[in-house]
Amino acid sequence: MTAGPHEPPVLEVRDLAIGLGRHAGAPRIVHGIDLSLHRGRTLALVGESGCGKSVTAQALINLLSPPLAVLGGSIRYAGEGGGVDIAALAPASDAMRALRGRRIAMIFQDPMTALDPVYPVGEQIAEALRHHLGMTARAAAARAIDLLRLVGIPDPAARARAYPFQLSGGMRQRVVIAIALACEPSVLIADEPTTALDVTVQAQILAELRSLGERFGTAMLLITHDLGVVAEVADDVAIMYRGHVVERAGVESLFAAPSHPYTRGLLASLPPVDGERRSLTPIPGQVPPVAVAIDGCPFADRCVDARPDCRAALPPAIEVAPGHVVACVLHARDRSSP
Ligand SMILES: Nc1ncnc2c1ncn2[C@@H]1O[C@H](COP(=O)(O)OP(=O)(O)O)[C@@H](O)[C@H]1O
Ligand code: SF4
Ligand SMILES: [Mg+2]
Repeated sequence: MTAGPHEPPVLEVRDLAIGLGRHAGAPRIVHGIDLSLHRGRTLALVGESGCGKSVTAQALINLLSPPLAVLGGSIRYAGEGGGVDIAALAPASDAMRALRGRRIAMIFQDPMTALDPVYPVGEQIAEALRHHLGMTARAAAARAIDLLRLVGIPDPAARARAYPFQLSGGMRQRVVIAIALACEPSVLIADEPTTALDVTVQAQILAELRSLGERFGTAMLLITHDLGVVAEVADDVAIMYRGHVVERAGVESLFAAPSHPYTRGLLASLPPVDGERRSLTPIPGQVPPVAVAIDGCPFADRCVDARPDCRAALPPAIEVAPGHVVACVLHARDRSSP
């Protein structure tokens, strides 16, 4: 059963700031974001390319490579083996190594970067089981086949002996998911896991990922630039623009009442789902580069509703409905008017 958002989060990100270097004046990539991951639920982190989604994911597993650095905030992990602030742990510390891959697993866009080309895939899953769980070789080999079956790979005993190049892109990504789920992690971070695959395979894999997450009680962070997949698999949504979370809501609330102009722009550029003929209107312009410092609303240059006061200061985050938070002056004004 899916746990409710009222339970305390398994992973709670508060005011996380990430810079391109630690020195004064270093460009900021992530500007104090909040995210909460709950057991058995999927949070989608959505935004165009360059908004800071992957950098955020790397911070959550403490794998930022310099000059990228956490400048402030906390990443509280409260799942099994937890009770720590990941932002305060050294990346190579024993405590972090005990979490990464075991309690907090990660899936990247390209399965080939995660798989070793010279070993059969079954051995690679078994290796994860031996390394993290201390299983014997025989038990790990048997469990590897179970996991291949679980992620929807037909004839798993035979496929376990295949090398990555002998499998399709979709099958390879399923193997990567099997490795990530091997230790039944409390948290799974999936960074655009199906972007490289064709649309039908994407849908199948995302549906399976979601159901496995529910079954194991995994809290999942699904990173995507596609609001279409969000509607299918997410429970909660955070819309990210230029290093800021500009809107957060439960999935129904977000689609019923998208409130930030950026969210509305993303929705307007979705292809029609019901065959209805409708022209696509991609948001004009581009995400400003991180080297450009912005004082006011980060979206102002592209926003059809922008006014002079939008550029004066960062719009405050306002709760427009229970659990639905928007950072835009239009909503701040709504609330302050009698
Ligand atoms: N190592 C790095 N050096 C310089 N800029 C970086 C580095 N990593 C990320 N960036 C910049 O940070 C911003 C966010 O990147 P990223 O998190 O990869 O975005 P997303 O995953 O949302 O597409 C981008 O402008 C990117 O160019
Ligand atoms: S604060 Fe202003 S510029 Fe920013 S999204 Fe809202 S209306 Fe647009
Ligand atoms: Mg990315």
